[in-house]
Amino acid sequence: MCGIIGYVGDKQASDVIIAGLKLLEYRGYDSAGIAVSNKGKIKVAKKEGRIVNLENHLKEEPLLGNLAIGHTRWATHGKPNDANAHPFIGNKRKYAVVHNGIIENYLEIKEELMSEGVKFSSKTDSEVIVHLLEYLDNGDPIATILKAVKKLKGAFALGIIHAETPNTIFAAKRDNPLIVGCAGGEGYICSDINSLPQSLKKVIVLDNKQFAVVKKNSVELYNFLGKPLDKNYVELSPEEWGDLKGYECYMDKEICEIPDALTRAIKNYRENKSFEKIDKDYLKSLRRINIVGCGTALHAGLYGEKLIKKYLPDIDVYSEMASEFRYNPVKVDEKTLTITISQSGETADTLVCQKMVSELGGKTLTICNVPTSSMVYYADYNLQLCAGKEVAVASTKAYNTQDLVFAMFIFDLALLRGSISQAEYDNLMKEIDALPKKAQEAIDVRGEIEAFSNKNFRKKSVFYLGRGIDYCVAMEGSLKLKEISYIHCEAYAAGELKHGTLALIEKDVIAIALLTDYDMVDKMYSSLAEVRTRGASIMVITPFADEMKLKEISDYLIEIPKVHKDLSAVVSVIPTQLISYYIARAKGCDIDKPRNLAKSVTVE
Ligand code: G6P
Repeated sequence: MCGIIGYVGDKQASDVIIAGLKLLEYRGYDSAGIAVSNKGKIKVAKKEGRIVNLENHLKEEPLLGNLAIGHTRWATHGKPNDANAHPFIGNKRKYAVVHNGIIENYLEIKEELMSEGVKFSSKTDSEVIVHLLEYLDNGDPIATILKAVKKLKGAFALGIIHAETPNTIFAAKRDNPLIVGCAGGEGYICSDINSLPQSLKKVIVLDNKQFAVVKKNSVELYNFLGKPLDKNYVELSPEEWGDLKGYECYMDKEICEIPDALTRAIKNYRENKSFEKIDKDYLKSLRRINIVGCGTALHAGLYGEKLIKKYLPDIDVYSEMASEFRYNPVKVDEKTLTITISQSGETADTLVCQKMVSELGGKTLTICNVPTSSMVYYADYNLQLCAGKEVAVASTKAYNTQDLVFAMFIFDLALLRGSISQAEYDNLMKEIDALPKKAQEAIDVRGEIEAFSNKNFRKKSVFYLGRGIDYCVAMEGSLKLKEISYIHCEAYAAGELKHGTLALIEKDVIAIALLTDYDMVDKMYSSLAEVRTRGASIMVITPFADEMKLKEISDYLIEIPKVHKDLSAVVSVIPTQLISYYIARAKGCDIDKPRNLAKSVTVE
């Protein structure tokens, strides 16, 4: 986990690094640090907590120089404190290193180096890298770094500076994202393409086992054997981020962007002919689909699973959270497709599963929001979300587009395989076209949700209930509430409640029911009656707000627009996103940066 950045140019490097780290803070915010090189000397500053702590420290004690590397940390090995913060500097102060990833054999290397008298100052795996560099140093930093990376097991994106090599950043990648570029007398390295300045115009997304030497006016690219490589450039997209555009926080902004994100996703899916790019004979031959993801992306996968069961009855479908998928025996053959879903395309748990399937000879398709990500790079096929940059740690608009794009793929597949007719397909497409407008209508009821949240934000326990697709949305609503408001919240299939969990229902608990399938009104009424009898308050989110039964049973009734029941998740999730946003706001939580979490978890 973590974000790394490096700068070489004519500006004060610390200003550039602080600005860049702020854009990378979503990758972790346990500590931040910087190493600046000036006239053959490297100086380091690091501070526990948010970037602003480092920024304030640098105001008191500036580090001057035009070459620097910086880091924002999400702690894995070693507590979040100053000592465990990056960058690490060697005892001879020749090298400084920032690292994103995990060094699996760090204990072995540490022991070896300690037996040679090397002193360590932190509990991290990353610190071994800098001491290894100084231990192997033969005066030639390129040769030294290439020797060192061969000894490291695990995943890394590294930014390295060498006191005796002015105006140069060294960057090396295995399995963690790393982008490099230079233009107009400025060179950069960074974990995230969108945290780089637009002035670069085009950048190089490093491939695995690649090494770059970045200067003000040049980038050289090598493999780990030191062989020079050709450079493939990627254009930077003109995404404006870092700009809240008057919104209170990114989560608010990103919820409001859902209708536009859906419009873009539909347009891109059709114009880019995403489905047509997949081998038709292979799709017709499919017998099994595996679905893998984490967190919010997993919930989109569970929704897709329900649709596959209905629209593709002759395909076996199996969905699993990525962190478990890899430990189960995986069935992969020429008639199996494994679908990974991910906003970032970098989540290590999911990426590892995708690679595992590829190594077993299976085909993979990724549904992803970041075109330059590792998942897109390594997958056989990909479907782009086009949700636009998501900054808030809690994912919102990416989820809506994940559901939508997955549904479009399933409907296309069903038409291709003849399990739905052209007329059914055309009707579903009409329903899809209506989704952006209906999403906007769902956002427009935010005033009622705000009032509900301001009244109920002190509650200790919330239960989300649903059946079928509504249950998938209940899981997502529940995750969102836990993530940013720290309220205990569970999602239950409404019918399952009576088999145990009902024991937890009492006065002061809130049950939020999702009900978008009219056939479920009676069944849901019965479940809610059981809840009500035990004293809980009830909110129902439904398009059937006129139903007497629902009026009678609920304390709060949120009316959402009527959507085709198989597409309901795309819209019905919006009130749940707004509930978590308003409750977190009422509680005074840090909405965009919830405690202990990070947006992109690039460690397993
Ligand atoms: C982290 C984030 C979640 C996100 C999950 C999967 O845990 O905190 O919000 O849903 O990763 O991320 P991905 O980028 O793979 O969709």
